[in-house]
Amino acid sequence: MAKAKTVYVCSNCGYESARWNGRCPSCGEWNTFTEETVVRQSPSRASSGGGRQAPRPLGEIGCNEQGRIPTHDTEFDRVLGGGLVRGSLVLIGGEPGIGKSTLALQTALRMRGGTVLYVSAEESASQVKMRANRLGADGGDCLVLCETALDNILDQARAVSPVLVVVDSIQTIMAEGLESSPGTVSQVRECATRILKFAKETDIPFIIIGHINKDGNIAGPKVLEHIVDTVLQFEGDQHYFYRILRSVKNRFGSTFEIGIYEMKADGLQCVDNPSRLLLSDDVPPSSGISVAATMEGARPFLVETQALVSSAVYGTPQRSATGFDLRRMNMLLAVLEKRAGFKLAQKDVFLNIAGGLKVSDPAIDLSVISSILSSNMDVEIERGIALAGEVGLSGEIRPVNRIEQRIQEAQKLGFTQIIIPSNNMAGLDLKRFTIEITPVRKVEEAFRQLFG
Ligand code: TYD
Ligand code: MG
Repeated sequence: MAKAKTVYVCSNCGYESARWNGRCPSCGEWNTFTEETVVRQSPSRASSGGGRQAPRPLGEIGCNEQGRIPTHDTEFDRVLGGGLVRGSLVLIGGEPGIGKSTLALQTALRMRGGTVLYVSAEESASQVKMRANRLGADGGDCLVLCETALDNILDQARAVSPVLVVVDSIQTIMAEGLESSPGTVSQVRECATRILKFAKETDIPFIIIGHINKDGNIAGPKVLEHIVDTVLQFEGDQHYFYRILRSVKNRFGSTFEIGIYEMKADGLQCVDNPSRLLLSDDVPPSSGISVAATMEGARPFLVETQALVSSAVYGTPQRSATGFDLRRMNMLLAVLEKRAGFKLAQKDVFLNIAGGLKVSDPAIDLSVISSILSSNMDVEIERGIALAGEVGLSGEIRPVNRIEQRIQEAQKLGFTQIIIPSNNMAGLDLKRFTIEITPVRKVEEAFRQLFG
């Protein structure tokens, strides 16, 4: 007979305890314990039922790499590592309103070769239909199921035997036999485990949508991320049009890949050339603007960094950075003071990465520092110059990764000169490039190049 019991579960790591704790003894997070009622079932469920497996020689096991199913979406396929793997569980996480449901429905509507089961546990069937209308699809082969009960979802999936099941979202479905409400640690964990088991048995791939909590992690226990095969983060600034799909865990591919989309009135459009979006060529040149050759995952980007330096009105100068780490900017300002002799102590400094992008690639340093100086001196940086280089504390320009790709991208976009770290010159095949490549060792050298 099943027995109900109250436990306290850490919402961060899933640690269970009989008493409430202020601080989780397992992961060390504060205030994460929530009370949950669990029904322990007879041990039969734990011992995975019948169908016990015997070991097999690895050499005799076939590999169904060809079993990848194309999603007919270049960006999504790229991030997955070449299409959906049969029987895999893909979790898409992201903030509310970023476009997770749109991406999932769009993918569902593009699938070929069978029906797709779209399970909506959040929205009504007509809401799903309205979204499909926006996407300009008649919804031919897609079945919609508005259901929160996991057992029925899996029964229906078994009956339809679709090429793909979408579950929107893992936080709103519930497994029978557990008394805790949807979205709790034990529900999320139980649902994900049962779906995983079902997917592996039937070879049907699942796309699961997960909400994100205030820290930017997928809500629910960390174990959710351990259960699924692939975790994709869907990010972007709601006020801007483009979105980045980033793979943070992938059992079947690299986690370096990113997909870039643009949110249009009729759905998410793949972006082949992101730099075009991020560079504003129609505004007149002005001081404080420079272009950095950065990388996002494995893709090169050219982004504009904009700085504004003005005399501080109040006693304490203001420093603000959008899309760039403020502490790093302060460090770069200190380097500027010390190495280039610029008095910035009485200046307000504002920095902005155009397009709302957040850049953590250290190669943007050189561009940041050049923009600040350009604004401070009110001297424009010539159009057609791109910059790449990390700036060290003594003002040295440190080498950056994937320099060829950065140069290639700048050249492709019609830039005429790129300033790169001297240490990146070794092994660089200069004959491959038509763009002028200027190596620099120190920030002073870069400034001489830019400002004469
Ligand atoms: P949605 O997919 O519902 O986000 P999520 O599931 O992550 O909460 O979409 C959110 C936003 O996208 C919504 O504000 C409207 C906008 N949108 C478009 O701009 N174009 C479209 O074609 C669609 C379907 C949505
Ligand atoms: Mg949604």
